[in-house]
Order: sequence, then C-alpha cells, then structure tokens
Amino acid sequence: MSVDGRIAADREQLTDWTSAEDKQFFVLKTKESGVVIMGRRTFQTIGEPLPERLNIIMTRQEPPFDDIPGVLESTNQSPAAVVKSLEDRQYTSACVVGGREVYSAFLAAGLVTDLYVTIEPLLFGGGVPFVEEISSQRLQLISVEKLGEQSVLLHYVVL
Ligand SMILES: NC(=O)c1ccc[n+]([C@@H]2O[C@H](COP(=O)([O-])OP(=O)(O)OC[C@H]3O[C@@H](n4cnc5c(N)ncnc54)[C@H](OP(=O)(O)O)[C@@H]3O)[C@@H](O)[C@H]2O)c1
Repeated sequence: MSVDGRIAADREQLTDWTSAEDKQFFVLKTKESGVVIMGRRTFQTIGEPLPERLNIIMTRQEPPFDDIPGVLESTNQSPAAVVKSLEDRQYTSACVVGGREVYSAFLAAGLVTDLYVTIEPLLFGGGVPFVEEISSQRLQLISVEKLGEQSVLLHYVVL
C-alpha cells in the first residue's frame, strides 16, 4: 500500500506500481500457500490466472470466464464457505490478495490470521483504501523488514 493507506489510485488500476522486491515477496508467499483468493475486479485488472496457484475469484455474477478446475474457479460462496471448501480439499493455507472488498470481507469474517503489508514510498492522495467498513481489530507486530532501498514489509498477526 501507499504511505496514505491506499491499494490503488482507482478501482481499475493494475497493481504495477509496487517495488520489484514486493512483487518477488508476493510470488514467493502465494506460491508457498498454493491458493490466491481475489475479487472479480482485481482479477479483471490482472486478466489471467496467476500461474502455479489455485485462483479463487469471488463474484456474485455469472463470471466473465470459464472455470478451469484447480486453476481458476469462481465462487459466490461466503468467505467462511470458501475457506471450508479449501480445507475439505486438504489445502492448509490461502492468501487473500485483494482488493478492498475482499480484504474487508475476510477480515470482517474473522478468517485472517496474518497480514503482510508492504509500504511503498508514495502518496496517492485518494483512491482505494486497504479496508472499509470493518470493526476495529487489534494486531500484533511480528516483524519489520526493509525490502530493497525504499520499501518496508510489515508482518502482523490478527489477535
Ligand atoms: N495494492 C494491493 O495490494 C492490491 C491488491 C489487490 C487489488 N488492488 C486494487 O484494488 C482495486 C479493486 O478493489 P475493489 O475493492 O474495487 O474490488 P475487489 O475486491 O477486487 O472485487 C470486488 C468484487 O468482488 C466480488 N465480491 C466481493 N465480495 C464478495 C463476496 N463476499 N461474495 C462474492 N463476491 C464478492 C464482487 O464481484 P461482482 O461485482 O462480480 O459480483 C465485487 O464487485 C483495483 O484497483 C486493484 O488494482 C490492490
């Protein structure tokens, strides 16, 4: 996110403004987990499934793509039902990768254990906030890591 807590300048923006080090961390972490969960809008900014990971796309509409089992799957289930169905399929972790609506839905449902937040050195002065309309939640800081020269990666657990 930007220093002013935004994850994009607008809802159509591709997340191409983050550092190379953050992108590297994102790929490593999500491949380690094997599952990425994202909103339909975020998926549309990316345009294709992220390789070597199961991509779960949250949508309440007829999805604008065909499912590819194990690769690209759309769902209109609740966050809790999505997690349950992953557990039933023997997955042990999943990364919620945005955007604001989906981050907020999983946090509000109490399903998030860890937050990895990279602060990038810019201000958007407006745009899409990280989360919206969730009740306040306490976090515990686990680590602070400098990524390259300009970025900071914060790891929190949700209490
Ligand atoms: N910097 C970052 O870390 C980061 C990461 C990801 C995304 N982003 C940015 O975030 C922006 C998009 O965020 P956003 O909040 O506008 O959209 P979003 O969360 O990506 O997608 C919202 C859509 O997801 C579906 N959805 C959300 N909650 C759902 C639920 N509980 N059940 C079923 N479907 C659900 C709905 O799809 P339908 O409308 O199809 O029903 C909704 O319109 C983009 O600009 C993107 O670049 C930034």
